[in-house]
Amino acid sequence: MIVGSISENKNIEKRVAITPDVVKKYQSLGLGVYLTKNYALHIGITDKEYELEGAKFFNKDEEVISQSDAILQMNIISDENLDKLKQNQIFIGVLNPFLNEKKLQNITSKKVNCFSLDLLPRITRAQSMDILSSQANLAGYKAVVDSFSYFQKAIPMMMTAAGTISAAKVLIVGAGVAGLQAIATAKRMGAIVFATDVRIASKEQVESLGGKFLSVEGSENLETEGGYAKETSEDFKLKQEELLKDTLKKIDIVVCTALIPGKKAPIILKKDMIEQMPNGSIIYDLAASQGGNSELTKADQIVESNGVRIIGETNILNKLPVSASSLYAKNLFNFINNLFNKDNKSFEINLEDEIIKKTKVK
Ligand code: NAI
Repeated sequence: MIVGSISENKNIEKRVAITPDVVKKYQSLGLGVYLTKNYALHIGITDKEYELEGAKFFNKDEEVISQSDAILQMNIISDENLDKLKQNQIFIGVLNPFLNEKKLQNITSKKVNCFSLDLLPRITRAQSMDILSSQANLAGYKAVVDSFSYFQKAIPMMMTAAGTISAAKVLIVGAGVAGLQAIATAKRMGAIVFATDVRIASKEQVESLGGKFLSVEGSENLETEGGYAKETSEDFKLKQEELLKDTLKKIDIVVCTALIPGKKAPIILKKDMIEQMPNGSIIYDLAASQGGNSELTKADQIVESNGVRIIGETNILNKLPVSASSLYAKNLFNFINNLFNKDNKSFEINLEDEIIKKTKVK
């Protein structure tokens, strides 16, 4: 049995689905690994490194696709390559089924078994496969490092013979996986950190990392059974606005990560609130791919308003593709390890297994 992966569209995606260290793991399961030439050269990993672990290279995508039992990718592949998938083949990636509904319907109707890892249930058994967490964690870290590089002052407090520099004040909006890593990173670099969220459970997590939690007074816990956020009421929005308006007057950097699954990101920072921020402050909006948490966010642009720069980042993982690929490749291997029957040496689509059932695209 063979797992294969072809080059991603490098104009939009630098991450790869298979790294040299997981090639050995696939082989220990009895799976061969086929890749297209120069598969990860753009991120500094040569074909030789893969070959030393036992991977085989081919010049053309179609050679990999036609000989592989499972195709493992980051994103959905081109229409031309989708057409080459055959009955009973397996295709796995972050396929974004809501956005790619029609394309996926076309191939599932040909009985290609598609699995989208963004549908993975957040249960304990699936933690080692949880690509949303592994990637969001890196995104939270990088957002802080990147936003600090735009900021024109030092971050930690420094007491020197020439005088004292005060510590930068950072606000993290949304304290999920990305937000918590952003808090930890900003704290490590010496910032004073504030954070807010609609889920009450996040208060304790923020505080355990040394952040100050900003609670909207009198609000209920807006958490779904699955642990995600619910949309807020108009009353909540007004109270949250009041709370943040005052705080923003003294904040130097805001990192936005607030999302609601399947919906547009909530607008939390209004134009008049941003106007109150000190000159030179930065808003780094990781929610930009879903519209952004600030009213002024523009995807992949830096907007300047009243001396505040608003950075709309939609593809931050391309800024650390080696680390992101390393974690993604391990998540994907763990998913395959669960899908592959070691006794029969074949893939087994057991729909009784919650992980397999929930990720399978219908
Ligand atoms: P996410 O990326 O969907 O959202 C990010 C954060 O934004 C969330 O904390 C959410 O509550 C917050 N948010 C949404 N609307 C907001 C608003 N109007 N104002 C302020 N904050 C707002 O969430 P993520 O990071 O994927 O985490 C979701 C949940 O999943 C968390 O409870 C996390 O602890 C849980 N989780 C569970 C895992 C498991 O294996 N059991 C693994 C990873 C995460």
